[in-house]
Amino acid sequence: MFRVAGIARWTPVWSEETVTMPVALITGGSKGLGRALAEALARQGWDLVLDARTSVVLEATAKEVRERYGTRVAAVPGDVTDAAHRAELIAAAGELGGLDLLVSNASVLGAEPLVRLEAQPLEGLRQALETNVVAALGLVQEALPLLRASAAGAVVAVSSDAAAEPYGTWGGYGASKAALDQLAAVLGVEEPGLRVWAVDPGDMDTDLYEAAVPDDGGERRPSPASVVPAFLRLVRERPASGRFAAPALLEEPAADGGLR
Ligand SMILES: NC(=O)c1ccc[n+]([C@@H]2O[C@H](COP(=O)([O-])OP(=O)(O)OC[C@H]3O[C@@H](n4cnc5c(N)ncnc54)[C@H](OP(=O)(O)O)[C@@H]3O)[C@@H](O)[C@H]2O)c1
Repeated sequence: MFRVAGIARWTPVWSEETVTMPVALITGGSKGLGRALAEALARQGWDLVLDARTSVVLEATAKEVRERYGTRVAAVPGDVTDAAHRAELIAAAGELGGLDLLVSNASVLGAEPLVRLEAQPLEGLRQALETNVVAALGLVQEALPLLRASAAGAVVAVSSDAAAEPYGTWGGYGASKAALDQLAAVLGVEEPGLRVWAVDPGDMDTDLYEAAVPDDGGERRPSPASVVPAFLRLVRERPASGRFAAPALLEEPAADGGLR
């Protein structure tokens, strides 16, 4: 197969045999931010590999995205903490022709609702670290050969402002996101041929937020879809590896035309 995805990221590449489009793997792609990003990339012609633990929701999302945008969507149900599942995800990307963008988005809170550190179940913290950090690194390790082979390989680690700010009750989850940020930062140094972006999407109206803070006073938060343009901007402009916050990415370009 003739593959130059990433050079012509949104332009179909014609060969005598086939057309290839860039491929993104999004963990936790069945709902919330992962689904919104999947839809936006599919609208631009990306082929997708999506995962989530709840098969029926994942399959429904994949079917809708396929029917609406006409791209190839591999739905691979499973838990990112399972090494065999991570290998399946990368194999699915390989079957689509490679991997240009890996989005580590699937996360757990470690306590639902969130609690103060004095009451944080240690097993919950272990689960948060296993899902949000260990599995994310495991998937990167599995994905590196395909990402390095891409002309425009990139990794997005979905972070949180809880990684950097000491909000009460967000300690366990925030610690896992801080660890994820540091892995992303070091990966960016170690893999200069890739782009590695940790992205704080800001608060969003999703099941995860509702589970974290069920009694939030009914305050309205942005939809995941409203945050997605920040991610698309990174993919389009390909700034140097680093940590970004979606609200800043959604603002107008800086005077020099670059990212702030
Ligand atoms: N919502 C916010 O306010 C907010 C703020 C800052 C950062 N974030 C971050 O944004 C990202 C997306 O969160 P969201 O708010 O969109 O949450 P969401 O709507 O609850 O979606 C989470 C997705 O991850 C999947 N998932 C969870 N654990 C998984 C596992 N072990 N293996 C595979 N899939 C798994 C879920 O499906 P299953 O449950 O079926 O597995 C679902 O598809 C997360 O990294 C979160 O930490 C969210």
